[in-house]
Amino acid sequence: MNTKLAALSLFALGAMFLGGCGSSTTTEEPAKTPEAKANTTTPGSAAGDLDAKGLKLGFAQVGAESGWRTANTESIKAEAQARGVDLKFADAQQKQENQIKAIKSFIAQGVDVIAFSPVVETGWEPVLQEAKKAGIPVIISDRRADVPDDLYATFIGSDFIKEGQMAGDWLAKKLNNKGNIAELTGTPGSAPANDRAKGFRQALEGKADLKIVFTQTGDFTRAKGKEVMEALMKSPTGSTLNAVFAHNDDMALGAIQAIEEAGKKPGSDIIVVSIDGVHDAFQAMVDGKLNCTVECNPLLGKAIIDAAAKVKKGETLPKRTVIEDGIFDQSVAAKELPNRKY
Ligand code: AHR
Repeated sequence: MNTKLAALSLFALGAMFLGGCGSSTTTEEPAKTPEAKANTTTPGSAAGDLDAKGLKLGFAQVGAESGWRTANTESIKAEAQARGVDLKFADAQQKQENQIKAIKSFIAQGVDVIAFSPVVETGWEPVLQEAKKAGIPVIISDRRADVPDDLYATFIGSDFIKEGQMAGDWLAKKLNNKGNIAELTGTPGSAPANDRAKGFRQALEGKADLKIVFTQTGDFTRAKGKEVMEALMKSPTGSTLNAVFAHNDDMALGAIQAIEEAGKKPGSDIIVVSIDGVHDAFQAMVDGKLNCTVECNPLLGKAIIDAAAKVKKGETLPKRTVIEDGIFDQSVAAKELPNRKY
């Protein structure tokens, strides 16, 4: 396999802006920081240099839809505990109205800083205006929100377009630019679903024999991924498939089960590529059932709490902090599996 594998995951801090979080378009060569690197290797375990003791942080989480999300939540909670942060945590169960309610409640409680990972991209302006009016800075993490720059202090998260491109490039090479692909998309309206679909299509541009013949949401869950794939395997399109691209590992793992139940071999009869890089995905690669995963690092706890401590002190942060992700396929899975932190 000629795939160039970047088995690297470090935080690249800079002001590189991706369309959607307002209108600024500054780009700057990202710089590595010791804090950022520590976050990927020892999530939540080491207290950072910045004093965050007593900081009141409200965090509105998307939900618990995937292994990635569980790791993200654990990273935030562990880091908060290690550093004496007074964390108020809300699980929105993948519903925007629940996240909005949680943010309003954090405002009413007078927290120092609010952080949240927006379940969908749009519809945040009114509640963020309320936070601004109350003088509470907002940190956006993981997923982009389509709001003006003045409504948030910083946005920390991966480049989802790039992740989709990496998956597409890998798959195009694997299939020699020819084949039928089924796409399992993430939550409709969410930044990772929008951007990964976009990046994947960019990678396929000009490759006329490489076709997306099916696309449907699996809502980032294993159960939905399986359900959608089961129905697909029973349809006439199912027998024409060469590959599945899932917007996250959980949907890919559900799809793998459905492919097996339909009497085909995932990993060889049907190539499977996904995004996240969770432990179960590495195991599936070792077992020969998943072919490739693009990493999306969920260990954001330290970066979020460092940013909250800085913003509380009145520091201005870069509008965009990009997390660099790697790509892993079966050729490195067994070696990497013991090193996985999530
Ligand atoms: O926003 C990150 C995405 O959300 C992860 O890729 C997915 O697993 C999660 O549900």
